[in-house]
Amino acid sequence: MYERQEITQAQLEVQRRCCEKIKDALSDRPRFALVDTYGCQQNESDSEILRGWLMDCGYGLTSDPAQADIVVFNTCAVREHAEQRVYGNVGALTHNKAKNPDLIVAVGGCMTQQETVKEKLKNSFRVVDMVFGPHEVWKFPELLWSVMERRGRRGNKSRVIAAEPSDGVVAEGLPRQRDSEIKAWLSIMNGCDNFCTYCIVPHVRGRERSRRPEAILAEARKLAEAGVKDITLLGQNVNSYGKGLADGMDFPDLLRAVNDLPGDFVLRFMTSHPKDATEKLFRTMAECDKIAHHIHLPAQSGSSRVLKAMNRHYDREKYLDTVAMARKLLPDLVLTTDIIVGFPGETEADFEETLSLVEEVRYDAMFTFIYSPRTGTPAASMPDPVSRAEKQVWFDRLLDSANRISAEKHAAYVGKTCRVLVDGETNDPTRNLSARTKGGRLVHLTGDPALVGQFVNAEITDSSTWALFGHASE
Ligand code: 5AD
Ligand code: SF4
Repeated sequence: MYERQEITQAQLEVQRRCCEKIKDALSDRPRFALVDTYGCQQNESDSEILRGWLMDCGYGLTSDPAQADIVVFNTCAVREHAEQRVYGNVGALTHNKAKNPDLIVAVGGCMTQQETVKEKLKNSFRVVDMVFGPHEVWKFPELLWSVMERRGRRGNKSRVIAAEPSDGVVAEGLPRQRDSEIKAWLSIMNGCDNFCTYCIVPHVRGRERSRRPEAILAEARKLAEAGVKDITLLGQNVNSYGKGLADGMDFPDLLRAVNDLPGDFVLRFMTSHPKDATEKLFRTMAECDKIAHHIHLPAQSGSSRVLKAMNRHYDREKYLDTVAMARKLLPDLVLTTDIIVGFPGETEADFEETLSLVEEVRYDAMFTFIYSPRTGTPAASMPDPVSRAEKQVWFDRLLDSANRISAEKHAAYVGKTCRVLVDGETNDPTRNLSARTKGGRLVHLTGDPALVGQFVNAEITDSSTWALFGHASE
């Protein structure tokens, strides 16, 4: 049984003192930090905290590895490809360190919670000075200070290898350097208890634990007061928010409470597990004016047999029923999904069912992945007779279908006027602004750069598989 572990004020005070010590030690000249993020929005959010800590330690931020005095990798373990990229990029810093022996290289994130990865970083990547897990973001200054202190005393025997096994903690009051003044991530929970058989997340991110509603609402209120226009509530499975809290608040209740805060903002959330997406959720989405009519509802497969082997707790029919209920209550719903192709034991017939699900549901956008075995998960030891080449053929067929449907869905916007939030400028002089519809579709617009950060009406004149095009009509 998981016991909630809350970080205390005293523990945070230790971190603040470490920040001061680091700041003093580095006061001779300006220092710069680079945080390189891989994977999901939860990691993006953790990286904002890491940047907050680094700034509290006296670092400026840079995106140039050659200028950096510390490089922090915030890694992802969901698929092997992301891990290989991290190894490549960490290894590449060997040259930088040869030029600048003071460079500190830290590796954090989900990869490090796997014992084999931790060993590999320790034994084969001498360039790495510090390894820490997602459960240790709250004590980043303490770990960094140990590296620095040991460096002073013990030369290059200064490494700190943490990433201790943990079910996870709940930490409030951490600093955060937000990436944007317009859009914000708001993490409402952490970890996952679902144990889908292919997925490493429950093994590395620990048990599911929700932040208290007061803390979330206070943060959301601050964001709205600061003029943030787009707030995304984050969790591995937001639909089970509140489990284990005494407040009796579930996810729809929380959504409604955030919606009711003063301010002009769009409220989004991700990710939703289909097994926990209820009528109450969709009714709440329909009733609350700030909530985007978008749901990311990962199907993973269209074959009930494969879904069972994945331990998803729904079958094809139940998933389709959920989609039908959602669309009945929210006729303009934007629906997106994740699909895994080539799960162990998946047959051509199973794959055809996935394809037919995609054709039936007609997603606005899809994230498609070829199954990647993750050590320690049940699926990694299931027989997997289909060749990589065959999986690639299936994958390409799925992608063709997904792209055609997205293009058709986007084409249906042409000639319409949509309310969009202008969120930035592009490098394209003919479509100089980027924006999002309330449903989250990307729009490239022509318009006055002063519109960045504002809601405007956009006339949609053209579309592609990936985006809508138009001009600001206000
Ligand atoms: N292989 C391929 N895709 C995976 N995902 C999670 N684990 C794996 C894996 N082992 C995908 C799922 C999930 C998304 C975030 O990543 O589709 O929804
Ligand atoms: Fe992984 Fe399933 Fe949890 Fe999502 S719900 S993080 S796919 S175990």
